[in-house]
Amino acid sequence: MNVVILAAGMGKRMRSDLPKVLHPLAGRPLLAHVVGTARSLAPGRIVIVYGHGGETVPRTIGGDDLRWALQEPQLGTGHAVVQALPHLDPAAPTLVLYGDVPLITSETLARLLAVAGADRLGLLTVELADPSGYGRIVRDGTRIVRVVEHKDADDATRAIREVNTGILVAPTAALARWLGALSNDNAQKEYYLTDVVAAAVHDGMEVASAQPADACETLGVNSKAQLAALERIFQGRLAGQLMDQGVQLADPSRLDVRGELNCGRDVTIDVNCVFEGRVELGDGASIGANCVIRDTRIGAGAQVLPFTLIEQSSIGARARIGPYARLRPGTELGEETHVGNFVEMKNTQMAAKSKANHLSYLGDTVVGERVNIGAGTITCNYDGANKYRTVIEDDAFIGSDTQLVAPVRVGRGATLGAGTTLTRDAPEHKLTMSRTQQTTVESWERPAKKPARKP
Ligand code: UD1
Ligand code: CA
Repeated sequence: MNVVILAAGMGKRMRSDLPKVLHPLAGRPLLAHVVGTARSLAPGRIVIVYGHGGETVPRTIGGDDLRWALQEPQLGTGHAVVQALPHLDPAAPTLVLYGDVPLITSETLARLLAVAGADRLGLLTVELADPSGYGRIVRDGTRIVRVVEHKDADDATRAIREVNTGILVAPTAALARWLGALSNDNAQKEYYLTDVVAAAVHDGMEVASAQPADACETLGVNSKAQLAALERIFQGRLAGQLMDQGVQLADPSRLDVRGELNCGRDVTIDVNCVFEGRVELGDGASIGANCVIRDTRIGAGAQVLPFTLIEQSSIGARARIGPYARLRPGTELGEETHVGNFVEMKNTQMAAKSKANHLSYLGDTVVGERVNIGAGTITCNYDGANKYRTVIEDDAFIGSDTQLVAPVRVGRGATLGAGTTLTRDAPEHKLTMSRTQQTTVESWERPAKKPARKP
């Protein structure tokens, strides 16, 4: 089979510089969703007709298996498919999809392909309460005889509620013949793909139809409001799948997955969490409200408390992170680690049972096991030009409000006194501190306010 995806249209109502088909749905371009569905059908060829937005579209989507056909200018859906013809295998049927109709499922398409077989024209149609704007399916008895565009239809035809979704499958040689004979003598002066239906009937070819499992599947994106509506439908589907797998969602309508979320058993997710890229949540992990987690592995039984942001990190089993933690790329936390509020980490590995519970910045740092990082500890890893590493060995105790001026090493079991600015390595098992002596000035008196002078 061949698949042609129409993606050349301009999307004027999006009011955007970004080509319509590149607008993201669940974090991926609309067109990427359609390409993914097309691939799931394992066609021999996938041809994408592009135009508006130019080379940005193929450059963004990529894919060695995709063929691209430029349509310039855009003279209608029939003209669009003509551009794809040179790329098609004439011996196999051609399925036409739309780059701005991203929710179509492979199950529905498989049904359409099955009713059409190799020698019928197959149309995906749907009954709508409000069919206005769509092409109408005109039947003679049960037989489809043509499709009439809304703008070309008389009142009787406009009363028909069965509409063309745009998705069709046709024997390719016949399709090429019909397209070659199209005219643009219609209300929009466009070459209509839908005119192939009357041509097929004229040739005595049978026209079959199938309906989507859910009418939502054929919704297109023409505006920002429609894009937002489709996003909710998509997220609703995903939330349903997660709950079917046993994930406890506090509210399925308040979850956003922009990528792939893999969950173990007994995972719980509170409201307003966003998962981006590839995220894995181990058995029994729990994610508090308002967390954003990107490209990260969270170990079994780990707790991520509310308002935490984690990117490109890995969190060990039974760790406790947040609330209000920020873990930047390259953070690797061992088992049973604790990272508390207002702690930022970047490119930092912290081994099992170590803790940084409050108000710290650890960057380019290796922390051993059972280390305690006191509140307000900062690694000074950057001198304005270069970055340096800090090493804190097992069982060290870092007093509060300490600055570790990298490169610097804190030896095994060392203790740093509160307020230390560490500029040289601290030896193992010793107390190291840098502090001015505490003094009390006995003769000092707090200044008193002078009595106000009478005017
Ligand atoms: C089309 C159908 C209509 C159907 C409706 C479903 C035709 C003539 N009409 O109408 O029967 O009910 O879809 O939404 O086919 N495109 C190109 N190049 C072009 C024109 C369009 O690539 O020159 C692409 C668009 O990017 C879009 C798709 O084709 O993805 C549909 O185009 P659009 O203009 O939205 O068609 P409609 O007028 O809505
Ligand atoms: Ca449309």
